[in-house]
Amino acid sequence: MISVQNLSFSHSSRLIFDDVSFSIMDNAKVGLIGPNGAGKSTLLKILCKMEVPNAGKIEVIGSVGVVPQEVKHDPVMEGCNTIREYLNPEHSKHDFELHKMISGVELSDISLEDSPAALSGGQKTRLALARALLSEPDILLLDEPTNFLDYEGKKWVMGFLANYPKTLILISHDLELLDKHIDKILFVDAHLGKIEEYKGNYTEALEQREEREALLKKQVSLEQRNISRLEESAKKVGVRQRVILQRRVSRLKEKLPDLPPEVRAINFKLPDPANVGGLPLRAVNISKSYGDKKVLDGINLSIERGECVALIGPNGVGKSTFIKILMGLLSPDTGEVQRDYQLKVGYYSQEFENLDFRKTLLQTAMESGGVSEAVARPVLARFLFPASKVGQEIGTLSGGEKTRLSIALLLLSDYNLLILDEPTTYLDVMSQSIILQVLKDYKGAVLIVSHTEDFISELKPSRALILPENYFDIWSEDLLERVSQI
Ligand SMILES: Nc1ncnc2c1ncn2[C@@H]1O[C@H](COP(=O)(O)OP(=O)(O)OP(=O)(O)O)[C@@H](O)[C@H]1O
Ligand SMILES: [Mg+2]
Repeated sequence: MISVQNLSFSHSSRLIFDDVSFSIMDNAKVGLIGPNGAGKSTLLKILCKMEVPNAGKIEVIGSVGVVPQEVKHDPVMEGCNTIREYLNPEHSKHDFELHKMISGVELSDISLEDSPAALSGGQKTRLALARALLSEPDILLLDEPTNFLDYEGKKWVMGFLANYPKTLILISHDLELLDKHIDKILFVDAHLGKIEEYKGNYTEALEQREEREALLKKQVSLEQRNISRLEESAKKVGVRQRVILQRRVSRLKEKLPDLPPEVRAINFKLPDPANVGGLPLRAVNISKSYGDKKVLDGINLSIERGECVALIGPNGVGKSTFIKILMGLLSPDTGEVQRDYQLKVGYYSQEFENLDFRKTLLQTAMESGGVSEAVARPVLARFLFPASKVGQEIGTLSGGEKTRLSIALLLLSDYNLLILDEPTTYLDVMSQSIILQVLKDYKGAVLIVSHTEDFISELKPSRALILPENYFDIWSEDLLERVSQI
């Protein structure tokens, strides 16, 4: 059981939660939702005592297991010599149970004898998920557990969670996940610092929320009319009466509920990408094996100037290997990569390895784009970072905010090819649509890897390379289906 009473919490000057109360019954399946930066991850940290609130009473009864949004450094994981030791600290499980779990989270490639230290950030996050699921705590707190999984892995995790016998609190931007097995929604309202409770799954909550908002808008406009009437009459009466009326007006104004701010469209012009020839990048007959495992076999790809190409395929199929070869970080066993001499590649990966977490947003934008403050500020604003936010240190940004920033940084520099590895992970619907629009307007070439089919379909790449089928062709809506039928 969880009970939260009168919780208030702020980060420096920003109030994240303002006198929030709610409770969660045993065995409830709760979806915790809200826009990027609203405070969802912060709430999980408060529940497992990793953050201390400014005020309020938090009661959590039962054992708690938590998997954060991204695992970079986990002291428990780092203290284990093998993956077996990490997954099975009490020696209560058989190896076959461990195997089942790690293959569920798409880590079948790793051995239980391996050291966790060598894993990538995405792999560490999935390993932490496997450990939490194995330990079956009374209260399982999951922060976007499907982020690093492809379609199959997602399905597996969803199936597992559907049968979870105890309390589950799940943060996700994945609507499918939030509609299947959830019976309560907590919505973090970033504008008011409140948490709203809804019965039912995501779709049901959304309907209730829309009704609530429409009602609120109606109330506000009635009140506003009332206020203007009073203000008009105040002009026509004597001094004493006027003072009384004005007092009433200001009392009414204070009580007027805040409506959510509409997002303004901000105009800004991106720097044009640097010059490049007609065929900036070409890869011919690329093959690569790790030991006796052949990952890539005779892959061909070409990208024309200004063209958008999608790279599609499940986890572990060699997409990252292929990208590393394209970038010249890894050499292929056969084949070659031909780059235009003016090619400048910008690269986005979900692990944010190029960000210096101690710098502020503004500093980073100016330095990495080589631009003045006057150029950096409107670009940051277009990516939903207002003036009040640009002085914040990058390390403290939420997952979605980091992604949004990384993409803003790429667009500020004069790259003529962007390679984007899963740019929609972490993003809420609003941020996704901003990134989509910006990429559509981008004049350089784009190579994009994504499991978010809607995003790819909207982006309308001109061609797609599908792995492992090794099928490179003109993009069309039904391409994915056709390939899966081969
Ligand atoms: N030390 C800090 N100083 C100022 N602001 C901070 C600090 N730490 C976090 N924040 C801000 O608090 C807000 C809430 O962060 P949180 O990580 O809880 O968001 P979230 O709802 O999980 O978002 P996402 O969906 O992107 O993961 C964010 O806007 C973040 O930038
Ligand atoms: Mg978060």
